[in-house]
Amino acid sequence: MAMAEMRGRWALVTGASSGLGADFARDLAARGCRLVLVARREDRLKQLAAELAGTEARVVALDLRAPDAATTLHERLHAEGIAVDVLVNNAGFGLYGPFLASDWSRQRDMLELDIVALTHLTHVFVPDMAERGAGWVLLVASIGAFQPTPTYATYSAAKSYVLSFGEALAAELRPRGVRVCTTCPGVTATEFLAVAGQRRSLYQRLFMMQSPAVVRSSVRALLAGRTSVVPGIGNKVAAFSMRFTPRRLQAAMAASAMTMGAGD
Ligand SMILES: NC(=O)c1ccc[n+]([C@@H]2O[C@H](COP(=O)([O-])OP(=O)(O)OC[C@H]3O[C@@H](n4cnc5c(N)ncnc54)[C@H](OP(=O)(O)O)[C@@H]3O)[C@@H](O)[C@H]2O)c1
Repeated sequence: MAMAEMRGRWALVTGASSGLGADFARDLAARGCRLVLVARREDRLKQLAAELAGTEARVVALDLRAPDAATTLHERLHAEGIAVDVLVNNAGFGLYGPFLASDWSRQRDMLELDIVALTHLTHVFVPDMAERGAGWVLLVASIGAFQPTPTYATYSAAKSYVLSFGEALAAELRPRGVRVCTTCPGVTATEFLAVAGQRRSLYQRLFMMQSPAVVRSSVRALLAGRTSVVPGIGNKVAAFSMRFTPRRLQAAMAASAMTMGAGD
């Protein structure tokens, strides 16, 4: 039923040039969606579009941190007669290390992408869905949303924003026919750690998931009308156990999970 619902609909996937975004595109293509692929690396997006031959796809190379990125994208797609029914707000990155030692411009870039661009895209693309009375929005947060995480202080706080925003929006938009689901993946084999500047800790080596499995579980939750999902049983247990853990202890546990046994 969900499969039939998706056929022929336009899905906009941000951060489709690698990792989870590329797999979201593959998954939605397999469900019959047409695709708008957005990221900065155009060559990668073109490669993916070629791989998905048989699926109608538009490639848009765009830095989503630009203040007018969401409106420019919306105008461009509108001019082409493309009405987006599925928005996958996936583009994002993290920064690993002590907050005081971090570079402010990288911190600002991250907050602009992970919080501002995600919120702006939602603000620009969802009104059309609400007007049509149908739409699907997937927000990519992180398991870091559930607890303060020293060494990822700003990133985990940004992902707490995404989860809180997504859950609130899900309640606001349900009566309008738009489903909003926030996915909270744990560590996943993508370019994330390299971009964040982190070597895998012991915890990350033990709990690392593959991107297609994370994507499958996230899309399934979106189509089932769930408000949020934590992909993977190990991650589900970790996120659930945080409910019974004092905040100070949560921070200490998260810090050791990120730093203990840092290897390759
Ligand atoms: N992997 C994990 O362990 C993990 C865990 C929890 C949550 N997440 C979240 O999952 C999402 C996807 O990350 P990933 O793991 O797939 O990492 P990734 O492989 O590094 O992919 C990140 C994507 O974001 C895009 N991006 C970065 N800056 C951008 C910008 N300024 N404008 C447009 N696109 C931009 C990148 O494309 P370009 O560089 O070509 O622009 C790339 O396609 C992120 O929101 C991340 O926080 C990841």
